[in-house]
Amino acid sequence: MTAINPHGGQLINRLVEGEAKAFLLKQLSDAPVIPISRWTISDLDLIGVGAFSPLTGFMNQEDYESVVASMRLADGTVWSIPITLAVQPELAATLKIGATAALVGEEDQITYGAINIESIYTIDPLHEAVNVFKTSDTAHPGVQKLLERPTTVVGGSIQVIQRPKPERFEDYYFDPAETRRLFAEKGWNTVVGFQTRNPVHRAHEYIQKSAMEIVDALFLNPLVGETKSDDVPADVRMRSYLALLEGYYPKDRVFLGVFPAAMRYAGPREAIFHAIVRKNYGCTHFIVGRDHAGVGDYYGTYEAQEIFRRFTPEELDITPLFFEHSFFCTKCGNMASSKTCPHNKEDHLTLSGTKVRALLRDGICPPPEFSRPEVAKILIEGMAEQTANV
Ligand code: ADX
Repeated sequence: MTAINPHGGQLINRLVEGEAKAFLLKQLSDAPVIPISRWTISDLDLIGVGAFSPLTGFMNQEDYESVVASMRLADGTVWSIPITLAVQPELAATLKIGATAALVGEEDQITYGAINIESIYTIDPLHEAVNVFKTSDTAHPGVQKLLERPTTVVGGSIQVIQRPKPERFEDYYFDPAETRRLFAEKGWNTVVGFQTRNPVHRAHEYIQKSAMEIVDALFLNPLVGETKSDDVPADVRMRSYLALLEGYYPKDRVFLGVFPAAMRYAGPREAIFHAIVRKNYGCTHFIVGRDHAGVGDYYGTYEAQEIFRRFTPEELDITPLFFEHSFFCTKCGNMASSKTCPHNKEDHLTLSGTKVRALLRDGICPPPEFSRPEVAKILIEGMAEQTANV
């Protein structure tokens, strides 16, 4: 059995331990300090463990400009999302190319890593927004985040000194090297990755299980990094995934592990990024349904599928599995999509996110054809906890 190659051919490992770590910490004792946000700590860690292979650090100008303009690193490797380290201009003015800086958590003062400063440059956030998010509308959560950050960025290779500690569900954090090893140990030749920032409803379950019919296993890989405030919190979602897997999935063909990245809401470009990263975790296939990583109505329903046509299968080297918008059809009496159901819209059970949230807030389970009762119950509890905490 040959495991799928990481993107760029080699799984990057930038973690320093033991003597090397002690040496680096000593070196950093009089080095400049760059404060980093939770989002950047997560990017740093994901670079360090190879989830973002072939990146070995925060992007230098050439890679950055190439990614923004044409979804490729300067050497031509496909990469669709800029990964940058934003620094206050006053601080940047004191930094020197060739020096090493400590990357220190702005909230907890922990030294998470170090960067070898290779470049300092200014970005045009509106140009990035229009290219990456296809809009400069500040109501878009990804654009909003981008515009909040300083426009001066520092590029260079990194080293990780301290891993961020998961607040909960520690047992479900696996690095790409571990998932690759575990998938191989289980004898899985083909694994389909599933990205989600939502609870798994029946439509998600349907497309996952349709994919499971043709591959060896499912890697349920919910994103648990920063999301927008009205998305369901990760710990509530985790409880719902566990309940769902317990009741409805074969234990020997599903692997649950979190993806500790921030959500960008970049729709099509993020779908490419999500697929590449799951390849690094050892997936051979990746599910892209309707409006993948979308928000509002910034992207067409199937744009995140169409974008895959811009790359050859060889350069992506992970097989996307595309699914139509799925729903429960009352006439068919099962989950379906326009590919398999001949009936009218009126026969299809579709509920908007707003409607579902309103039901859950009132303690009412959506119909079981929309969401498994075990999942709905946990979401109702989660909503009640959130309200109590406000
Ligand atoms: S995402 O932002 O993480 O993509 P979400 O968790 O809603 O959002 O979706 C996870 C995956 O399921 C994505 O690939 C998305 O396209 C797909 N998906 C969600 N709902 C449906 C649906 N009703 N029909 C088909 N695909 C869907």
